[in-house]
Amino acid sequence: MAQINDNYLKLQAGYLFPEIGRRVNAYIEANPQANVIKMGIGDVTQPLCPAIIKAMHSAVDEMAVKETFRGYGPEQGYSFLRDAIAKHDFQDRGIDVAADEIFVSDGSKCDSGNLLDVFGADNTIAVLDPVYPVYVDTNVMAGHTGAADENGRYGKLVYMPVTAESNFEPALPTEKVDLIYLCYPNNPTGTVATRETLEKWVAYAKENNSIIFYDAAYEAFISDPNVPRSIFEIEGAREVAIELRSFSKTAGFTGIRCGFTVIPKTLMGKTSDGQLQSVHALWNRRHCTKFNGVSYPVQRGAEAVYSSEGRAQVNELIAFYMNNARLLREGLSEVGFEVYGGEHAPYVWIKTPGDMTSWDFFDQLLGKSHIVGTPGSGFGAAGEGYFRLSAFNSLENTKEALGRIKEAYSAV
Ligand code: MLT
Repeated sequence: MAQINDNYLKLQAGYLFPEIGRRVNAYIEANPQANVIKMGIGDVTQPLCPAIIKAMHSAVDEMAVKETFRGYGPEQGYSFLRDAIAKHDFQDRGIDVAADEIFVSDGSKCDSGNLLDVFGADNTIAVLDPVYPVYVDTNVMAGHTGAADENGRYGKLVYMPVTAESNFEPALPTEKVDLIYLCYPNNPTGTVATRETLEKWVAYAKENNSIIFYDAAYEAFISDPNVPRSIFEIEGAREVAIELRSFSKTAGFTGIRCGFTVIPKTLMGKTSDGQLQSVHALWNRRHCTKFNGVSYPVQRGAEAVYSSEGRAQVNELIAFYMNNARLLREGLSEVGFEVYGGEHAPYVWIKTPGDMTSWDFFDQLLGKSHIVGTPGSGFGAAGEGYFRLSAFNSLENTKEALGRIKEAYSAV
């Protein structure tokens, strides 16, 4: 009989968001009259911008004509998109990233898991706690961890707790770690890393020969020019970091699928016999073997994000969601909740009232106010007692949700 990958059996419960969906569907089935507002998964709600739609339409039209039809594209992405990314996201901001260091993909969730293909099985891996669950689950699947303990923490992973007490700033690991996952603006806490914080991480990584996986999927939501948008703004990061980016939240591509990963050619790993090896070369090899590129119309849509029209429209979209985040932050604080994040990120992270567990608060908020959020403990043990609300919604729903919360919790 064929053997399965036993590592999958170590995984705790279902993946967080489908698990929430399952519970919400069960609730709706039992309470069909409830008008449920979903602020759980961070999924965009506004349509694609006109500039993107126009570019995608004309790309589809090109595919309908023999002379302009295209088959397989370059696995790494078309140069029109890689050039636009390199120029607008990096070079125009004074950041040293070349177009051929950019690998276009179907999203940073996929990339963050796939990256493990080119790293060995015996690395020590550090993650924040709470953490975007994909970083942990993909390491479990790859056999890089032991079993989970009673708090859901997996053996062999190094967890770096971040809570309000530490101002959501993780302490550097006291031991030597090889791979470090950082996500800023942070999912789930919505907090950001200062330049000094990132400088500390780059210095740590240099000293310990570690590699940082820097997930910057939410960088477009940063409005303070002093907050770094890329780890490559930090001197020396080209020797120690990989950066993941996404059009999902920036431009509403969650259903369209497009993101990219930046791997500097200067980034080296070590072979088992101690030789230096370019990570860029290995990732290129992997990408060409296991991936056939993002579809042409989608890449044309992504390119349009960088046109002057597209940029203005995308900025409006971001301002729209960030207005929701501001309303949530201010409204929840008024009610008396302890509120974090939501200033440079579309997520608001709150302390549950009366020290309730995250899942108890999930059930209560759903039952009392018909609002779905994400339990902090679903992101890790240190998220227990916290709760995440997403600003990806209509203004109407955001206001309605706040009104309901005010009514139910005004004495928090
Ligand atoms: C989230 O809600 O954390 C995100 O939508 C998940 C994702 O981007 O995969």
